[in-house]
Amino acid sequence: MIDDHLVKRFIEVRRYTESICSKLEIEDFVVQPVPEVSPPKWHLAHTTWFLEELIINKFQINYDFHDNVFRKLFNSYYKGLGEHWLQSARGQLSRPTVKEIYTYREIITQKILELMSHQKNNYELEQIIELAINHEEQHIELLYMDIKFILGANPSLPAYDEMILPAIANATSRWEFFSEGLYEIGADSAKNFYYDNEAPKHKIFLRPYAIRTTLVTNGEYLEFIESNGYEIPTLWLSKGLDWVKNNNIKSPLYWFKEDGLWYEFTLHGKQLLDKSAPVTHVSYFEAEAYARWKDLRLPTEGEFEIYSLSKKNLKKTSTFLHPESVNTLDSQLWCWTQSSYSPYPGYRPFAGAVGEYNGKFMCNQFVLKGGCFATPSGHYRNTYRNFYEPHQRWMFSGIVLAKDLI
Ligand SMILES: [Fe+2]
Repeated sequence: MIDDHLVKRFIEVRRYTESICSKLEIEDFVVQPVPEVSPPKWHLAHTTWFLEELIINKFQINYDFHDNVFRKLFNSYYKGLGEHWLQSARGQLSRPTVKEIYTYREIITQKILELMSHQKNNYELEQIIELAINHEEQHIELLYMDIKFILGANPSLPAYDEMILPAIANATSRWEFFSEGLYEIGADSAKNFYYDNEAPKHKIFLRPYAIRTTLVTNGEYLEFIESNGYEIPTLWLSKGLDWVKNNNIKSPLYWFKEDGLWYEFTLHGKQLLDKSAPVTHVSYFEAEAYARWKDLRLPTEGEFEIYSLSKKNLKKTSTFLHPESVNTLDSQLWCWTQSSYSPYPGYRPFAGAVGEYNGKFMCNQFVLKGGCFATPSGHYRNTYRNFYEPHQRWMFSGIVLAKDLI
């Protein structure tokens, strides 16, 4: 018998994914408005494929797959596991049906529970189950992002849920100061799970710096727009300016103006822009340009991690989604950092097929730190390194400001 707590968490994460989708209409499950947004049906199936391909097939001799076509359709990007369906074509699949995918989920969930009940102190199995739980937690957040994009791409702007994801209240803004010196970042706990990209723990040297304790608000960002920030070439990185011009970018994703008033599409539907809420759905390019406009800068990932460690407030408990509604850096939105997503010194990918999980994406992306309101509560870590390309903004990203003290 595998650890009860692990079994409980496994059941919880599987149910949570399904509860998110229970609020959708059947037509919502297959839509893919842009290549990087996956249909909810695909998320339901892919998180199940991960269990079948990487766990059941490994621990059950001569395992007969539920459906061999699923191995190709729901493999995301693991080249070592064979051919996979093109990411941009996930929305082309009307079959298998949503109903068939739910049946697939139920069968594979039960097989995993059986496997866990028959194994005793199997460290290798516990490790991969832990990874699978974390993987599904990532997809929970992706589901919220993708559902928002799918509904937001529809001119009728339907609300996903009236209750979830409360508006964000004010918090007092101040600067937190850090002195020059050697600091340690990265993960090395023998007890707690972390992804391979968070290790090894290592020393970094930081010059004296300060971080502002609140996120940039919609109201502050609006001042940037009204000062023609998008039109001032000297504020932008070269690639950023190309992106702004080529895509006619004039505001964060989901913002729109009607009769002189700014609105924002949210998971609650269309809302008048709340100026006190943190600005979200901004690209790295926008975050960087905004910081430059303020004569400030984005923090490095090391600076942010040291700030988070000083707060020690990333440990979330009780409810599955983080319930607080305060405008603090490390709990509401993923904060862009100026750090390129690169291997830490001494980095080693996970062994085996899951070696493709993180390492192969360490090119042309930037690190985001903290976590957001859609991040499952067990998924927050000071050492967590999220990463996106600099033009992407459909994730729940925000802006945090830093400055040099010398
Ligand atoms: Fe995945």
